[in-house]
Amino acid sequence: MAPAPSFRGHQWTYNPVRGSCLLLLLVVMSNLLLCQGKSCPSCSPYLLATSMSSLTDLFIEVAWLSHDFHNLSTIVFKEFNETYAQGKLYHINATNSCHTNVFDFPEERDKAHQLNNENITKWTLVLLYCWNNPLYHLVKELDTTKELPETFLSSLTEIENMSERLQAFIESHFRKIIVPVLKIIRNAPSVWSEHQYMKSRDEDRRHSEMYNLFHCLHRDSRKVDMYFKILACRARKTC
Ligand SMILES: *[C@@H]1O[C@H](CO)[C@@H](O)[C@H](O)[C@H]1NC(C)=O
Ligand SMILES: *[C@@H]1O[C@H](CO)[C@@H](O)[C@H](O)[C@H]1NC(C)=O
Ligand SMILES: *[C@@H]1O[C@H](CO)[C@@H](O)[C@H](O)[C@H]1NC(C)=O
Ligand SMILES: *[C@@H]1O[C@H](CO)[C@@H](O)[C@H](O)[C@H]1NC(C)=O
Ligand SMILES: *[C@@H]1O[C@H](CO)[C@@H](O)[C@H](O)[C@H]1NC(C)=O
Repeated sequence: MAPAPSFRGHQWTYNPVRGSCLLLLLVVMSNLLLCQGKSCPSCSPYLLATSMSSLTDLFIEVAWLSHDFHNLSTIVFKEFNETYAQGKLYHINATNSCHTNVFDFPEERDKAHQLNNENITKWTLVLLYCWNNPLYHLVKELDTTKELPETFLSSLTEIENMSERLQAFIESHFRKIIVPVLKIIRNAPSVWSEHQYMKSRDEDRRHSEMYNLFHCLHRDSRKVDMYFKILACRARKTC
């Protein structure tokens, strides 16, 4: 499909576009992928007119999307903390029990920088896939119970949407890593089972579980954003 940048160590190597149909397809796809939400930083028609330099632009655009993804996750966590966690000890259990802890995702920028493009992209996709189930169930649950104010539901729906667009970006440009990524997840110990808060009658228990989930989402979205930013700066050669 799209002329995917391929991996060679830290270098990006672009396959030349073969034919204008392909280019058009790429442009249409990138518009579809990147310019759907209102958060799109530059949906100007210039994208339609650009040539291969748009690949670099794509990375810059997707880094904006990951920024918004992280931003909104942070806002949700802060709001939950301020509304439901005051005077509680929810934070005590929070850091050590993220479902994504079974993977050793690089947390520090320095460490992530040591990875090559392929591995960064892989970890990003693993991380995003790991959140699909929790987000889906959380949104479904909140939609049913209306336990939290509507703003939480709409923010989480938006977060889910952004996560899907980030995944679609990687999947369309780096198809070759999808299978290895699925394998990594399959081989990991069970990464997520439906959280107990959904069953618990104890409000405090449910809120504690949600705090935990929002905390983990906030933490992981920061990593996703960092990884995309590293890829973007490498694509731009400005690291
Ligand atoms: C999120 O984005 C809004 C609007 O762009 C900005 O005002 C706010 O400071 C950002 N928040 C964080 C946590 O980055
Ligand atoms: C949660 O809210 C309290 C009180 O506003 C604040 O002191 C604390 O830093 C917040 N926790 C996080 C992780 O933001
Ligand atoms: C922390 O986890 C333990 C074990 O699951 C639980 O008994 C305790 O109530 C939790 N503490 C808080 C503040 O949620
Ligand atoms: C990439 O990850 C593989 C294992 O998934 C590892 O063997 C390899 O050394 C890593 N390469 C870099 C440069 O991090
Ligand atoms: C994201 O939301 C926009 C509009 O809110 C919608 O058109 C689009 O299909 C959604 N994308 C995904 C991947 O769900």
